[in-house]
Amino acid sequence: MTLRQAQGRVDVEPYDAVDLIRAVRDRRPVGEAELRWLVDAYTRGYVADAQMSAFTMAVLLNGLDRGSIRTLTDAMIASGERMDFSALGKPTVDKHSTGGVGDKITLPLAPLVAAFGVAVPQLSGRGLGHTGGTLDKLESIPGWRAALSNDEMLAQLAEVGAVICAAGSGLAPADKKLYALRDVTGTVEAIPLIASSIMSKKIAEGTDSLVLDVKFGSGAFMQDIDRARELAETMVALGTDSGVATTALLTDMNTPLGLAIGNANEVRESVEVLAGGGPADVVELTVALAREMLTLAGRPDADVEAALADGRAMDVWRRMIRAQDGDPDAALPQPRETETVTADRDGVVMRIDALPFGIAAWRLGAGRARAEDAVVHAAGIDLHVKPGDRVAAGQPLFTLLADDGARFPRALDAIEGAWEIGAEAPASAPLVRERITA
Ligand code: URA
Repeated sequence: MTLRQAQGRVDVEPYDAVDLIRAVRDRRPVGEAELRWLVDAYTRGYVADAQMSAFTMAVLLNGLDRGSIRTLTDAMIASGERMDFSALGKPTVDKHSTGGVGDKITLPLAPLVAAFGVAVPQLSGRGLGHTGGTLDKLESIPGWRAALSNDEMLAQLAEVGAVICAAGSGLAPADKKLYALRDVTGTVEAIPLIASSIMSKKIAEGTDSLVLDVKFGSGAFMQDIDRARELAETMVALGTDSGVATTALLTDMNTPLGLAIGNANEVRESVEVLAGGGPADVVELTVALAREMLTLAGRPDADVEAALADGRAMDVWRRMIRAQDGDPDAALPQPRETETVTADRDGVVMRIDALPFGIAAWRLGAGRARAEDAVVHAAGIDLHVKPGDRVAAGQPLFTLLADDGARFPRALDAIEGAWEIGAEAPASAPLVRERITA
């Protein structure tokens, strides 16, 4: 027990952070009440950043058992508000991706699923580092507004069926503080911490069901499929135990998704998918995730391809953008400068590595280094080819897009050696590798 004297008042803290740090450090069990206290005491500023850093590093190195991960998740949910969509009178289903390069799937997916009468409350974030943020992409659309009140969100879900907006600060504030600390202490990549962070926000959001797109490969958090599977299984168990029907797909993030990496160009590509076209991999993943979501929402027979082909999903997209003051017909921002890289020989594209291309797009201005930076909406990379495509010498491979040509050299440095033209077509691997259920 710790006594603390503050302005004549004596506060009694029931536990000591050092005891918890030592327990995880020495791989001893941690009590449920202690963990709940730790999260609460850290959120109110009693436990210091230095102590929480030691705790998160101990978790990264030694792990936490499933029960403790659940307690951590519950404690983070309890730190803020819980949303409730029961008044809508229709099933709600959400999707979360662990993030990748060219991952614009939320944009066509939310209106596609909503076209079947299911509500899709999609609370999204902004990009940091090489993975783009859904809100940054949508903000390329003139007038579009990311911040909605809870009432506006509910009204849009009732009228349009889909909403993609910023998560309010009231949702799992403990996670917000902890995530910022992990970001600067090298403790992001711990499965117990990632799982509790993501699931605390998703459970607090109040969706009935949830589909997780857990990426593995060069452009993902988890390079290795075994670690991605462990993360997926942990999150599926957390969701299921909290009464949220949860499944996950393990998907390949070694190659950028689609042909556009950036913001405005990713919106353009998403609209192509909603118009019944678009790159095959983006369509494949959108359809696979839509089927998962609709199955969880009780519509396993929904013909999702038909809703892309006949304009029903596009219709919801247009209403969704308009409802947030965006103009779906407005021209998207165009880059001031472009630089195209061409093939130096005839052959077949063997590989295009996601991570270096994500870093290059970021260096071109499509992403931000600090949370307060602005993104350049027109910046990014348009790929003209994908692995397996045959090319002739001199044929364009990809075009860098920027507001300032001074950005090109560092972007070109990032992708040096990140693509390859060879003689034989590479072996193709399925995009959706595994499905994880409870
Ligand atoms: N996204 C989150 O919200 N939390 C993490 O810990 C990692 C990715």
